[in-house]
Amino acid sequence: MSDNKNKSKNDEQALIDGRRRFLGKSALIGLATAGVSMGMAGCKEKEGAAKPAAGATGVAAASGQEIAPGQLDTYYSFTSSGHGGEMRVVGLPSGRTLKRIPIFNTDCMVGWGITNESRAIIGTKPDGTLKYTVGDTHHVHGSYKNGTYDSRWLFVNDKINSRLARVRMDTMECDKITQLPNVMGFHGMFPDKCDPVDASINYTTRVFCGGEFHMPLPNDGRDLDDPSKWGVLFSCVDAATMELKWQCRIDGNCDLVATTYDGKYAASNQYNTENAADLNGMMAAERDACVFFDIARIEALVKAGKFTTIGASKVPVVDGRKAANPDPKTSITCYVPVAKNPHGVNASPDGKYFVCSGKLSPTCTVIDLSLIPKWFNGELKDPRDTVVAEPEVGLGPLHTAFDGRGNAYTSLFLDSQCVKWNVEAAIAQFKGDKKAQVILAKIDVHYQPGHNYSSMGETKECDGKYLNSGNKFSKDRFLPVGPLHPETEQLLDISGDQPRLVADHTAYSEPHDGIIVRRDVVKTRQIYNLEDFPNAVTADNAGIERKGNVVHVRLMSQAPAYSLPVIKLKKGDLVTFTLTNHDKVEDLTHGFAIPTYNINFIVNPQETKSVTFKADHAGAFWIYCTHFCHALHLEMRSRLLIEG
Ligand code: CUA
Ligand code: CA
Repeated sequence: MSDNKNKSKNDEQALIDGRRRFLGKSALIGLATAGVSMGMAGCKEKEGAAKPAAGATGVAAASGQEIAPGQLDTYYSFTSSGHGGEMRVVGLPSGRTLKRIPIFNTDCMVGWGITNESRAIIGTKPDGTLKYTVGDTHHVHGSYKNGTYDSRWLFVNDKINSRLARVRMDTMECDKITQLPNVMGFHGMFPDKCDPVDASINYTTRVFCGGEFHMPLPNDGRDLDDPSKWGVLFSCVDAATMELKWQCRIDGNCDLVATTYDGKYAASNQYNTENAADLNGMMAAERDACVFFDIARIEALVKAGKFTTIGASKVPVVDGRKAANPDPKTSITCYVPVAKNPHGVNASPDGKYFVCSGKLSPTCTVIDLSLIPKWFNGELKDPRDTVVAEPEVGLGPLHTAFDGRGNAYTSLFLDSQCVKWNVEAAIAQFKGDKKAQVILAKIDVHYQPGHNYSSMGETKECDGKYLNSGNKFSKDRFLPVGPLHPETEQLLDISGDQPRLVADHTAYSEPHDGIIVRRDVVKTRQIYNLEDFPNAVTADNAGIERKGNVVHVRLMSQAPAYSLPVIKLKKGDLVTFTLTNHDKVEDLTHGFAIPTYNINFIVNPQETKSVTFKADHAGAFWIYCTHFCHALHLEMRSRLLIEG
């Protein structure tokens, strides 16, 4: 019996290994020759995949990370959602979804995109409709103090419409959105960790944003047939005001972004140093680059008025192209050659290195950050001299995370693996030490990992407990739900020598990046402050105010009733409802829905929200509470009577 079991297990493993090999090789050949995309390679693997995935996965996941009633997860994970447009909050190690924070999307439960307050944050057109209703969030990062999270803000990008959003950590709601002018494909983003000049500012004051796509500058119809004139800007946003501080024009493009712990430099990987407008052109060069920005020098130029502006934008634009920066001693940029078409650039938690993951090269490039100022001071001949290691890690390296013990963990998209390697050993090997043991472990993940991120891994408090592997294809692992399969997130315990799979869960398409934050770092509030809302409704101002056909209905909610049982309007009225929830108990949230008027939102305890609309059809409409609040929740309703 045990022989049979072993046999079938071996068969299963052979099948999996076979698929893995097929995927890795064919995809790489495709990439190298005809430019077949990695996404297509991922789909091909589906053929012949009938059996469930590796037995080890199921066993480990089942053995588990159950968080029983009375227990809480030890970490928060804040993740992007890709083209879903929102941010998600997940508890780890359980993998439970705790909250979905609408940002660039609309959400009829919360009322995001429906209430006046959320519409003002998202932005509206002159006719009052939302400027955009779609988004594409890729990267979530927190604000810093002393090199670790300070529980103020989370930032997230929107690649489609080049917007940066800020989320308050205390309410876990979006409070600001800024659109970057003259940027298309805003992909990489990272907050700074302290000021480049003033050491007393040891917290985040800037957010750096990379533009990925070349575009006409300005994009007003000019240069459509001449992409050689198109350009890319790297942007700096003030973290407190969320206004643009400056932009820097570069050669090539920006992919992911990283910042140094000393605040002096931001950097972005570039896969299109060729400035090409087609796929083959973007893969032409043997090496691409990681471009470093000297923040203090850029801001000195801006202060001195040495900038231009583009089109209608008033944002100062400095020139970081090579031709404008011939002398390292005055240069604002340094282009470090790295392996072909790199993807992720990640800062080691000791503050010493940036690791660029190769994508089209099976290597990671390690840049020694202590050598960057040496280049900017004219002490190094070649930017490439800042590279201190380039270990071969496997096929399709995309992103690298760290454990705080000197080890790096790189996701291998084509190999469907996470590889653990030692940074100092890689440096020794690069110097010629043939005995250096660089690769320490490889563990299968299922399948095609993109981002990986470790617990507190982007901070000086990196604790080396968990690593999350965000996998782009689940293939045969779950019950089928039609042509589109769920993605998977797999949690590895990285505290020992060998990474160990401890939990995994499905993820709705499609999360990209995230951070894992110790739960004690996150300080949330229990209820809102009535005083924080200038339009709060109290017993003093509650009621109906009419000026001609402009009507303001001020309502209060307290379980299980709204303050007005009957509200009379006339067809054609422009009406604003303002609702303050006077309940003071945590989680005692009420809803506010008006049938046939497309209105539905919630108000949390002590919160105020409003909505404005035209009463364009007559009738009787029950305003009702949509959020379960009380034994008499169903009875919580008011009559809205609109005369014809
Ligand atoms: Cu109020 Cu349900
Ligand atoms: Ca390239």
